[in-house]
Amino acid sequence: MADDKTTNEFMDKLVALCKRRGFIFQSSEIYGGINGFWDYGPLGVELKRNIKEAWWQDMIVRRDDMVGVDCSIIMNPKVWEASGHVVNFNDPLVDCKNCKARYRADKVWAVTAKDGDNVLLNVGAEPEGDEPKAVYAAALEKANSKTRRRIEEHADKITWWCERADRLPADMTGICPNCGGPLTDARKFNMMFKTTIGAMEDSSAVAYLRPETAQGIFANYKNVLDTTRIKPPFGIAQIGKSFRNEINPRNYTFRSREFEQMEIEFFCHPNEADKWYEYWRDTRYKWYTDLGLTSSKLRLRPHEKEELAHYARACADVEYQFPFGIAELEGVANRTDFDLKAHQAASGKDMTFFDDETKERYIPFVIEPSGGVDRATLAFLCEAYTEDEAPDENGKMQSRVVMKFHPRLAPTKVAVFPLVKKEGMPEIATKIHQDCKKAGLTSFYDEKGAVGRRYRRQDEAGTPFCITVDGQTLQDQTVTVRDRDSLKQDRIAADQVTKFVKDRLLGAQE
Ligand code: GAP
Repeated sequence: MADDKTTNEFMDKLVALCKRRGFIFQSSEIYGGINGFWDYGPLGVELKRNIKEAWWQDMIVRRDDMVGVDCSIIMNPKVWEASGHVVNFNDPLVDCKNCKARYRADKVWAVTAKDGDNVLLNVGAEPEGDEPKAVYAAALEKANSKTRRRIEEHADKITWWCERADRLPADMTGICPNCGGPLTDARKFNMMFKTTIGAMEDSSAVAYLRPETAQGIFANYKNVLDTTRIKPPFGIAQIGKSFRNEINPRNYTFRSREFEQMEIEFFCHPNEADKWYEYWRDTRYKWYTDLGLTSSKLRLRPHEKEELAHYARACADVEYQFPFGIAELEGVANRTDFDLKAHQAASGKDMTFFDDETKERYIPFVIEPSGGVDRATLAFLCEAYTEDEAPDENGKMQSRVVMKFHPRLAPTKVAVFPLVKKEGMPEIATKIHQDCKKAGLTSFYDEKGAVGRRYRRQDEAGTPFCITVDGQTLQDQTVTVRDRDSLKQDRIAADQVTKFVKDRLLGAQE
């Protein structure tokens, strides 16, 4: 079952594990939660921090052509006017006239399945993704078992028709996926969260919570050029919270109203933009595979011409096969000089770069790899979840859930156990645990219950190494180290534990 990660059952298991083990909680759960907002628990926050740290290390620290910034969430509203967000950051909204459910019109489809002239199915569906296969599958879920069987049995004779609610012919009405009722016509809904600044609450006090971190980078592009010796080609990176008043948050943390982004704006000469676009598209795809997302579940999908924003010259999405469908993890776009030109025009500030060597003045083109931290976290959680068997303390095989995180991402790097709570074993184990913590490793000390149960708890948390202090430790100062994935146990010197774990983490980073 854990091999098939494309089912609702798999998603339910993952969500249950995330709650049980403290990866992800519903925000404000004690008050019934709040739609589109999530909290990360003790294990989740470590996982998420490790993802962000891996990104920061790999995209900034290890490179000479990248620098970082950390900008405010609330910016001068003129930023959002210049960027086009005030006018254009809209989703098409439709309501069901019957049950009042609310949808994004570009996410709801009307689907008909016919056998000759005989209409077998005429429903509203809300698939994740635009592919006909996903749309038909979401529609089939609305069919009763008899209709579904009939469609499946006569698959070769069935003709399908489907269209998005925002692209329906004028004489057609959208169908509600919830109750089958009629949908209203689509209307525009701006997704930016509004707030007011200061004591007055009139229109002059209106400001927005940023819907992307990118604009803080553009607004600081001149500051960075002026205060560092960096010059194109170079990039500015930022990790931070973004906020979007999503009409229909769904699929767990995948589409939330508050989320984190990790974004790069890479500035280069217009003549080199195509080359840098390809470079970043491939680099970002590889980053995910290097950290353990299998390439069979990951794909790079170049956008069709019609899909491209008017200012974009090229765009590709890194997509992952989530249990609810193939969906975007990150977008990489060649945004041309659109953003800098827009800010130059609106602010009156010069955004050109003068190249001392070539004596050329130009507005750089921008390549933007823009990823979501929460989506990456969800993908790594899906990928890590594994069910297999491991022997208990009597050597009997027992089924286990194990989170096979890449060691760099694992929330807890090492767990330390005394085999029994006597004979000085807890003291030795406590010292190893403290040494690990001092060395900057997240370490967990556990002396309660059978050792097999303790291993099992760490497997569920995804801890790559478990250290056990046993009778032999008292004789020769060695401990066992158990590998989470291979279950292999080796003996190493007790005073070499931190080095052993650190070496393996470094090895995993090469
Ligand atoms: N600056 C470009 C930009 O923001 P985007 O495609 O709207 O582009 C980039 O967002 C990434 O941010 C997405 O690929 C996704 O990972 C993440 N993201 C966007 N909306 C999100 C949401 N509602 N919930 C979680 N992550 C989201």
